[in-house]
Amino acid sequence: FHVTWDADAAEMDGYEHFMMKEIHEQPKGLYETLTRRLNEDDTINLDGISMTKEDIENFNKVYIVACGTAYHAGLVGKAAIEKMARIPVEVDIASEFRYRDPFVDDKTLFIAISQSGETLDTLAALREAKRKGARILSVVNVVGSSVARESDDVFYTWAGPEIAVASTKAYTTQLMCMYLLALYMGHTKGVIDKDYYARFIEELKQIPDKLEDLLKKEKEIEAVAKKYCRKEQVFFIGRGVDSGVSYEGSLKLKEISYINSFAIAAGELKHGTIALIEEDTLVFALATQDFLFEKMLSNIQEIKARGANVVGVAKEGNREIEKQSTEVIYIPDCMDEVTPLLSVVPLQLFAYFVAKFRGCNIDKPKNLAKSVTVE
Ligand code: G6P
Repeated sequence: FHVTWDADAAEMDGYEHFMMKEIHEQPKGLYETLTRRLNEDDTINLDGISMTKEDIENFNKVYIVACGTAYHAGLVGKAAIEKMARIPVEVDIASEFRYRDPFVDDKTLFIAISQSGETLDTLAALREAKRKGARILSVVNVVGSSVARESDDVFYTWAGPEIAVASTKAYTTQLMCMYLLALYMGHTKGVIDKDYYARFIEELKQIPDKLEDLLKKEKEIEAVAKKYCRKEQVFFIGRGVDSGVSYEGSLKLKEISYINSFAIAAGELKHGTIALIEEDTLVFALATQDFLFEKMLSNIQEIKARGANVVGVAKEGNREIEKQSTEVIYIPDCMDEVTPLLSVVPLQLFAYFVAKFRGCNIDKPKNLAKSVTVE
């Protein structure tokens, strides 16, 4: 009798891949990231973070700098900070930021987002911002990593170790940190409405349970993946925060399934990319933003008219989108601002199942590394 022992398998809790395990760990990661920063009276604590009220009032500009998935979290972070803290935010790709002499001074808050805290480009951008006098706050998963050590303050994500190369739970917990930071800054500056603040916190508290519900749709998403897994090209479109999530959904798919996928702000389609939409092209249309829904609907009609297959992603209860889409994946109803915490999950699952049907190495895709410590 011979027992083979596989350390990786032992840590997989019965899941076939780390990526699937990590997708399912998101409710827990979000709960942890939220509750560690929330006091009983629903105020946010920045324990261990030295940034004062004066510092926050002094900032006239925020840079969010990151790579890959973390950069996509930054796109949503920009929307949150601008809306709640009323400070202009620029999101930049770390490898671009470091070489373009950016406008940074001691009134700049520089936020680095990094799961590993070891990405060389992000670290180099951070050093450049520091040299120019910015205040450095990082959103990091790995405690004691280089980015964490070189920052003035660290806002940790509580995702736990992320093993799969394709990032999932790091992204959603990064979003949670960005929401909390935006709320904190808005509250501290006194520019956020009290009722809005309370409603927002309430929404964030409900996210882990809503995400558990959403994960029950795994089979439904697997069926959509099975239907489309042989496509060689996929588009993702959305408006507002949905466009940020589109980029992330597209990245997930190309990373692990090697399908040529492309994401674009829906309103920009007509300026060129729509030329590629034809009979049977697959388009994911994210339409979770109530105030932008009509606009999205007309984008969907434009692509439907060219014979494309449209997979809509919308909030539960939205019947209008069914008439225009080939399939619809519903996410639980929630405030427009927090939909990225939910809407990314069907896209993660779609990428996972497509990669599986295509026989790809899901946890270790070719040519990619979990942490890129070279330029
Ligand atoms: C690599 C990984 C990506 C990740 C990016 C940034 O490219 O494959 O999944 O998003 O690095 O990594 P970081 O650790 O800085 O978040």
